[in-house]
Amino acid sequence: MTVFMSSCGFRAMMSLVLLLLVAAEVTCRSHTHSPPHARCEPGCDCPGDLRITTCSRALFTQLPGRVPSNTELLDLSDNHISVIPQRSFSNNRKLRVLLLQNNNISVVEDSSFSQLEFLQKLDLSWNRISVLTEGFSIGLAFLRELQLAHNYLSSLDSRSFLHLDGLQRLNLTSNRIQTIHVRSFSSMSTLRQLHLEDNQLTSLKSGIFSMLRSLEVLNLAGNLISGTDNGVFKPLTSMTLLNMADNQLSVVNFKTLLNIHTYSTHILLEGNPWNCDCDLQRVFRKLRSIQRLFLDDYSNLTCKAPPVLQDYLLMDVENELCIAETVTVLIITVTVVITVLAAMLMGERKRKKRRRALHWTHQEDLSDESDH
Ligand SMILES: *[C@@H]1O[C@H](CO)[C@@H](O)[C@H](O)[C@H]1NC(C)=O
Ligand SMILES: *[C@@H]1O[C@H](CO)[C@@H](O)[C@H](O)[C@H]1NC(C)=O
Ligand SMILES: *[C@@H]1O[C@H](CO)[C@@H](O)[C@H](O)[C@H]1NC(C)=O
Repeated sequence: MTVFMSSCGFRAMMSLVLLLLVAAEVTCRSHTHSPPHARCEPGCDCPGDLRITTCSRALFTQLPGRVPSNTELLDLSDNHISVIPQRSFSNNRKLRVLLLQNNNISVVEDSSFSQLEFLQKLDLSWNRISVLTEGFSIGLAFLRELQLAHNYLSSLDSRSFLHLDGLQRLNLTSNRIQTIHVRSFSSMSTLRQLHLEDNQLTSLKSGIFSMLRSLEVLNLAGNLISGTDNGVFKPLTSMTLLNMADNQLSVVNFKTLLNIHTYSTHILLEGNPWNCDCDLQRVFRKLRSIQRLFLDDYSNLTCKAPPVLQDYLLMDVENELCIAETVTVLIITVTVVITVLAAMLMGERKRKKRRRALHWTHQEDLSDESDH
């Protein structure tokens, strides 16, 4: 009986131990593999409590499948990803920052980011994007910063940034942009910085910046701009910095710059092939007398033409540019003065003659009367 009892107790004990072991195993597994760790893709680093997932330089050719759902910053930079498929981030709706720079992305499918309603920064620079379709920006109403430098964009139109209502900074440096259609930036009334340096713009048409009333910085350096429409900067009433350095300007359009209606704006113009003649000197003199405009690098402007003045600083030759004109004006003035004086003299002489004649007739009349 006792033997039976003890063997029974032993069995019961064994089952209990087994049960405990299984339980321990389960708890152990759930400790090491419970979210977020259970959902970290090999090649990524997911310190879950920081809400950061880093998958940089992981040789990915497509987006990783398993990213912890509480991730707020996802770093996928320096991989070989080439396509961003539709609704790619439906399990990561808490993302605030998404870094995709230095990949091989040429296709961003429509609605790729549409579920990222909290996304504030998106970095797509150093990729191969050549087209932005309307679907690209769907759902990105709270995006504040979009980095698209070093891509292959050649033209912007009204669909490119359609849904980016809250954007503050847009970086399009070093693309191949030749054309900006009117209304390309029409949804961006909150944009504060627009970087278009190192593109291939040749002119600036009225209307392309028409809705950018919050824009503070407009960087157009390193393009091929040789002309600007008179009203192109007129809508930019908050602009504090306009950088047009290193373009193809040889003359300065006075009306374009006069049309900048701001409290104060700094304008950079060096590195342009200025045609240093009297007109240029006059326009710059007028511009420099406008209180709200600051031509910060005026002392660095160099002449490209005429050939005798090539590489001279405009500031060093400006006093001589209008000498020929001054001499001409002087000759004309002197001629006019002489002509007028001569005319006056002639007139005076004629008048005197007439008065003398009148005098004589009057006296003759009087003598006639006295004869009677
Ligand atoms: C980049 O994408 C192109 C297709 O767009 C492909 O031919 C090329 O092999 C990709 N390069 C790398 C390094 O993945
Ligand atoms: C724009 O992008 C370029 C290239 O990535 C970078 O060097 C530059 O700092 C960016 N500018 C701004 C204002 O974000
Ligand atoms: C003028 O050019 C010099 C030399 O390139 C540069 O150091 C300086 O900052 C420039 N001045 C302005 C006002 O841009």
